[in-house]
Parts: sequence; C-alpha cells; structure tokens
Amino acid sequence: MWTTVPKGKDMNRGSRFRMEDPMAIPARDIDRDPGASLATLQHWNNDIRGTRSLNMTLTPVHFFSHGSTMMLGEESTSADYWKQCGDEALRNGIKGVIMMGAHWDCFGDQIQVSTNPNPGKSPVAYVHPSKYVDYKLNPDLKTAKRCIDLLDEAGYNVSGNDTFDWIHDTYLILIRMFPDGCPPSTIVSMNARYDPHFHMKVGSTLRQLRKENYLIIGTGGAVHNLYRNRWAPMLRFRDNFAQDSPPEHWALEFRQAVEDVFTKTSGPQLRRAMTRLMKHPEYRDAHATDDHFMAAMFVAGAAGDFEDEGTPAILATETWELTNMCNSQFTIGSWPAVVA
Ligand SMILES: [Fe+2]
Repeated sequence: MWTTVPKGKDMNRGSRFRMEDPMAIPARDIDRDPGASLATLQHWNNDIRGTRSLNMTLTPVHFFSHGSTMMLGEESTSADYWKQCGDEALRNGIKGVIMMGAHWDCFGDQIQVSTNPNPGKSPVAYVHPSKYVDYKLNPDLKTAKRCIDLLDEAGYNVSGNDTFDWIHDTYLILIRMFPDGCPPSTIVSMNARYDPHFHMKVGSTLRQLRKENYLIIGTGGAVHNLYRNRWAPMLRFRDNFAQDSPPEHWALEFRQAVEDVFTKTSGPQLRRAMTRLMKHPEYRDAHATDDHFMAAMFVAGAAGDFEDEGTPAILATETWELTNMCNSQFTIGSWPAVVA
C-alpha cells in the first residue's frame, strides 16, 4: 500500500513512505519511558568518548532481509544473527550505523537523508507495541550532514528531511541488533525510480565511511513479493513461519541467484552481478515491486570497490516466511579477529 503524503501536511517533503501494514496498531496510547532515552544517550556519549579504532581498515557491510513485521515479534535464526552482528559492532566500537531501507523513497531525481532530531516510529502490525514503542531512536544529525555533503559532491539532488518518521524496515533491525540502546544512526532514502545503478552509486559514495568505523546496512529482502506470499496462516493463526507447502520454484530460483551473487562475486564484479539480477527471469516474480531490492544495490556499492575484491561474504542464515518470502541475511567482510 503506497501512501502519498498530503502536500499541506509537510510530513515528508518530496518523499513518500510505504506502509505494508494494513492493520497497523496505533501506538500513541502507549506511555513512553523518558528514562530509557536518557540511559541510551549516556551509553552512547560514553561509548563515543571511549571508542577505540579497533578496525583501521574496512567495516563489514550487511544486507539484511527484514521480512514481515512479525520478524520483530517472533524469534528466528535471522533475529539471532542480527543480535550477533550488533554485539560484534559494539565490541568494535562503531561510530554509528548508516542504513538504506525499503520503505522510504523520493520523487523525481531526489534522495533525502533523515535529519529529524526526534523521529517517531510508524506503527507495525501484528507486533505488540511493547516490542518497539519505548525503544529510543538515536538519529545522528552530524553524520546525516556528512552523508548529504558527500552525496551532494557526487552529484545527487540530496537534501535533509527533518520531519521523517522512521519505519520498521530500519528500526526493526536496530532493535534486534542493539536491544540495549540504539547507536547513532543515519537513514538514507531510496529514489522512487528504482534505478539500480543510481542506488549502487549511493552506496559507493558512502563507502568511504567504512574506513571511519561506520557500519553500513541495507535492509530489504532477497525474495520479497507480498502479492505471492501465502497470508492465510498468519491471518488465521498469527503463524508467519507456517510452511504447509514448499516455496514455489521462482522463489527458490531467485533466492539461489541472490546467494550466488553475494557469495561468489566480489569487488566490481559484485556490482555488475547485483544490478544484473534485476534482469533475472524470475526477478519480477521474486519482487513485484523494486523497493526491497534497492538496498542490495546500495550494499553492492558500499562493498564492491576494487579494494573489496576477494573479500569473503557469507549467507549467515535465512528465514522463510509466508511460504514464499525468503529472508536471507548476508555479510560482506568481517571485523578484525580479536586476540584474546
Ligand atoms: Fe519491508
């Protein structure tokens, strides 16, 4: 379901956001815990002061398939892996997280970076509000400005958006990775024309921040076609993991193609192969809309330089939902080995 923001509202200027939750639960009645935000800020202030440059080279890059909203409420191996990645990032003293999601895009040739100092959270369906309402987001306005400057220098029509509320494609992942406090985080929008090369270049432009210990994450989906999912078990029994029949062939085929590109190519070959996946014969079955695959382009840009050639990538785990949705979790590169 696409929602275009009314002009007079000025909520997300020049952009639109996507709610795939037709039964979203209003969260405004839930009390917030002001103490939680204070503790989180204190944690990050201490952390920034105490950050060590443990990683002098390049941080890993993640492509996470966030799946349905129930991935926030239900346990899975993907959720375990997100937490593991968060723990590793904290151990390595990241400066912050820079994300491109799948639910925020801009019209024309624009892209935007969230500069809302106090973003709200779009409510999510099928998840109890206690799982996300009190989680304090931590927008990183300084890094947002930096991203805007870098993208501007690269020729993008880019601006800040100080009214954008965050959506579950990004905060679901942040909550799972960093349940004890959100690190300074920056959200970069997509562009609604869904040009793979455009989004790949956004990633390649911001890639340099990996050398400054920022963690870059694309959050979309490997196989993500809401029109081909089987929703009945979720609607009837709240069972998003029901698998009363195998996934259909197009889902299996495209899932394999995505794995092959991530794990068998690297450097510029990864970029070429990833963009070419949008011409795969099963692509349109696997992605009825392009929004959940743009983050893969962003990741290929961020981790597909000549300098990245030979960098190992893994398919860490995957979670099938709703029969045909494959939530594959990939990581390119790794943190330096810690000597005990
Ligand atoms: Fe999504």
